[in-house]
Amino acid sequence: MNPLDQKIEAHYHKEGLFEEILTRLENQNIDLKRLQRTDIAGVDEFHVRGAAVSKELAKTIDIEGKKVLDMGSGLGGPCRMLADEFNCTATGIDLSPEFVRTANALSKLVGLEDKTFFIQGSAAQLPFEDNSFDVIWTQHVQMNIPDKQKFYGEAHRVLKSGGHFLYYDIFRKKDGDILYPMPWASEEALSFLIKNDEMAQIVENLGFKPLSKTSQTETGIEFFTSLLAKVKQYGPPKLGLNVLMGESTVSKLTNLLAHLEKGLLMLESGVYQK
Ligand SMILES: C[S@@+](CC[C@H](N)C(=O)[O-])C[C@H]1O[C@@H](n2cnc3c(N)ncnc32)[C@H](O)[C@@H]1O
Repeated sequence: MNPLDQKIEAHYHKEGLFEEILTRLENQNIDLKRLQRTDIAGVDEFHVRGAAVSKELAKTIDIEGKKVLDMGSGLGGPCRMLADEFNCTATGIDLSPEFVRTANALSKLVGLEDKTFFIQGSAAQLPFEDNSFDVIWTQHVQMNIPDKQKFYGEAHRVLKSGGHFLYYDIFRKKDGDILYPMPWASEEALSFLIKNDEMAQIVENLGFKPLSKTSQTETGIEFFTSLLAKVKQYGPPKLGLNVLMGESTVSKLTNLLAHLEKGLLMLESGVYQK
């Protein structure tokens, strides 16, 4: 791993993550032998609006039965959802060995280990053949990757001709200081924000054809406002993203919300075709 990726991996690292999730499930008297995907939905989708937005994104194309690659797959929730609800075969690649270990173990616990596969590696250097996936999926990952050309270039390379590239991401909306910590970076040195137009230019130069894009900023603001109010009233959830973001969860979420409200950052999802 290069020195920057090591720092990013350390930012996300949570020792004993899988075991902590098990303990938190047991503390809620959830029988691990009957564990449902929904029991872990609060923690296994690490992006604004969790499982709800992933389902919306999946429905923007005919994804049924497709072979999907999730670039920066985290704990694997989106891959399990695609396997379970859309009969996809889903592979995830992530920088964090601890996230990959947890993703594979969670898939086994919910009986999806034959349809979801997680490996450690860099999304900027994919260990896959050209033209090998029907769908490339990525959510809230490129902000950690300085070389956007490589990241989107790899997505394009491994996607089959006619296949779809689906993204849901955080972009810079206008110039101005960004305050950290953010959920993806405890300090500015780990963050590489670009504008959505810059991404569009890179991917269109690679040969991707734009099919649709959706602003997700307003729904993201509503989600955070209600989440932070709930945390204030009832305390942190028993199994939420606080498990991944630790003690700085509230400052990370408050910062992100403030930047969305001020119009410095924005959320957008979209679909391209190769
Ligand atoms: C905010 S999380 C999103 C995880 C997942 N996409 C989701 O939405 O649940 C960002 C993820 O990107 C991963 N990541 C960051 N840089 C990466 C890289 N160069 N290659 C692969 N994964 C990377 C991190 O380890 C982390 O799991």
